[in-house]
Amino acid sequence: MDANPGSTHILVIGAGAMGAQIAMTAALAGYATSINDVSRTQLDAAAAQLRTRTDKMVQSGKLGSGAAAAAHVRLRFSTELDAVASSADFVIEAATERLEIKREIFAVLGRLTPEHAILATNSSTLGSSKVAAASGRPDRVCNMHFFNPALVMECVEVVRHPGTSQATVDTTMALARSLGKSPVLINREVPGFIANRLMGAVQREALALLAGGVASREDIDTTAKGALRHPMGPFELMDLVGLDVVTDIARATHAETGDPADAPNDAVMSLVREGKLGRKSGAGWYTYDH
Ligand SMILES: NC(=O)c1ccc[n+]([C@@H]2O[C@H](COP(=O)([O-])OP(=O)(O)OC[C@H]3O[C@@H](n4cnc5c(N)ncnc54)[C@H](O)[C@@H]3O)[C@@H](O)[C@H]2O)c1
Repeated sequence: MDANPGSTHILVIGAGAMGAQIAMTAALAGYATSINDVSRTQLDAAAAQLRTRTDKMVQSGKLGSGAAAAAHVRLRFSTELDAVASSADFVIEAATERLEIKREIFAVLGRLTPEHAILATNSSTLGSSKVAAASGRPDRVCNMHFFNPALVMECVEVVRHPGTSQATVDTTMALARSLGKSPVLINREVPGFIANRLMGAVQREALALLAGGVASREDIDTTAKGALRHPMGPFELMDLVGLDVVTDIARATHAETGDPADAPNDAVMSLVREGKLGRKSGAGWYTYDH
């Protein structure tokens, strides 16, 4: 297939934080786009959130009202996978981060989508090699990893597994470009891909500096922002992501690599045990007024 808005039907699986905005990005780029979720409530919530999002983009002058209206017309919400999968040319799976759920989705997509359709997963931690065989078309499977919020963030990591064909890589990169994104190609599956590995390295070093009494967390954050132009310091970022999520990611990475440097951090885990999860709980490395 070629990545052409005029003749390509994009199907997004999962209408959560990522799926909804990935689907809207595709619809805004001119693609006929379907979004499927097992939960009708989630689809309705996603539709409402996307309306609010595009209304704000129109008000701030980032999007014309005609373009917004046209994009909403291109977007179809459905709980019936059979109804939308049979004409899909490119699928981006953004369902719950659980391997058994994703394997089942790829098996069903392998049966329901046309032979030529590429099946990509947006997973942050699961390499597509883990779901490729279930699809029955491993050469047309890869990771296509967007960043949150997907409507805004430009980078998309395209990750090939050993059986991904060059045509699949080329089409996925071209599709990402046609969505206005800047794709990067990752030639083999490594935990965390590029961005989360870079972020993990900064985070580990920040935690080591704090534990060693070298500087306060405030001064480490100030340095990251004022000297390196990071939009947020590593401690602020951990609070935003959620310290429970930071711990889960470290646990999953450690299970895969066995590298002691990837293991969950003691200081972070002790905050989690105290119920300090970051912004969402009102306290983490810092305290927040809700
Ligand atoms: N949240 C992030 O910052 C982020 C960033 C990049 C990538 N990701 C990846 O994106 C994926 C989705 O993450 P999210 O944060 O949007 O999750 P989420 O929990 O917000 O949404 C997941 C959605 O999947 C739906 N779902 C579950 N099983 C399904 C099925 N069988 N068929 C259709 N829909 C199903 C759920 O109802 C839910 O609405 C994950 O693989 C995650 O690793 C997340």
